[in-house]
Amino acid sequence: MAASPLLSVGNLTVDYPSRTGLIRAVDGVSFSISAGSVLGVVGESGSGKSSVGFALMGLTDASKAVLGGTITFEGRDMLTLSRSAWRQLRGDRIAMVFQDAMATLNPVMRIGDQIGEVFRWHRPEMSRRAIRAACLELLERVGIKDAGRRIDSYPHQLSGGMRQRVVIAAAIALKPSLLIADEPTTALDVTVQAQILELMQTLCREQGTALILVSHDLDVVSDVCRDVVVMKDGVVVEAGPVDDVLMNPQHAYTQILLKARPGFGSGHMNTGAPHG
Ligand SMILES: Nc1ncnc2c1ncn2[C@@H]1O[C@H](COP(=O)(O)OP(=O)(O)OP(=O)(O)O)[C@@H](O)[C@H]1O
Ligand SMILES: [Mg+2]
Repeated sequence: MAASPLLSVGNLTVDYPSRTGLIRAVDGVSFSISAGSVLGVVGESGSGKSSVGFALMGLTDASKAVLGGTITFEGRDMLTLSRSAWRQLRGDRIAMVFQDAMATLNPVMRIGDQIGEVFRWHRPEMSRRAIRAACLELLERVGIKDAGRRIDSYPHQLSGGMRQRVVIAAAIALKPSLLIADEPTTALDVTVQAQILELMQTLCREQGTALILVSHDLDVVSDVCRDVVVMKDGVVVEAGPVDDVLMNPQHAYTQILLKARPGFGSGHMNTGAPHG
C-alpha cells in the first residue's frame, strides 16, 4: 500500500467577497504531494495559483476568503483547525516564500532578528544566544557570505538576491515538511534566479522538505519539478509528471502556454532568455 501523501487537496474552492457577491478564484482544485517531492503549479495571471498557496497557509483572514473542499496535511484536516492551531503550524511545519522579499521583510529590523522571530515564536525555550547561533548557521546555509557581519544588517543594505536568501533562511529555519514558494525568483535578475532556485532545491532535498513551486515559467518548472499542475480560471486543466505534461501536452491551454515561453523548443531552462 502506498504511503499517504504529505498533503492532499480535494475539490478546493476559494471565494472572495465582492460588492456583487462572491467571486470564485479557485474552483474545485485537487492534487496531492508526497513527502520530499517537488510539485509545480503553473498558469497565467489570475488563474488562482496564489489563492491556492494562501489557502494552504491559512492566510485567508485578511482577504475574508471563504474556503471549501478539503486540505489534509500530515493527516490533519486543515479547514477545521482553530486560528491558534494554524499559527502553530505556519512557519513551523508549512512555510511560504513570496515573490517580493522586500515586502516580506520588515525594513526597520535587522535580518538576524527577523530570522530569530521564527525561533522566538515557535521555540520559546531557546535562549537568545542559541537563537543567534541558529540564525548565523542559517545565513551560512543559504550562502550569505560574511554572515557574522551580515546578521546585523537591515534589509535595504542587502541585494535583492541576498534578501530572498534571508527570506528562505527564515522559511526553512524549523525544517518544515512543506515549503510553498510563490514566484520566488520573478523579481530577481536571471543569473540570481537560477542560484536561488538551486538553493531552494538543495535545502529542500537536504532536509526532506516537499516544495510547491508556483511559477508562470514553464522552463523553470520543467527543470525543477517532478510533477506539475496546470491551472486556468481557477481550475486544474492538466496534471501529472512534468515530462508527460510538458513534452506531450493534452490540453490546448497547456500547448498555448508552452508556445508562449521564451525558450520554446529548447526543452530546458533557458537562463539567457528574458523571463517575463
Ligand atoms: N484578496 C482578493 N480579493 C478579491 N479577489 C481576489 C483576491 N485575491 C485574488 N483575487 C482574484 O482571484 C483570482 C485569482 O487570483 P490569484 O492571485 O490567485 O491568481 P494567480 O494565478 O496567483 O495570478 P498571478 O500569476 O498574477 O500571481 C483573480 O481573479 C484575482 O483577481
Ligand atoms: Mg500569484
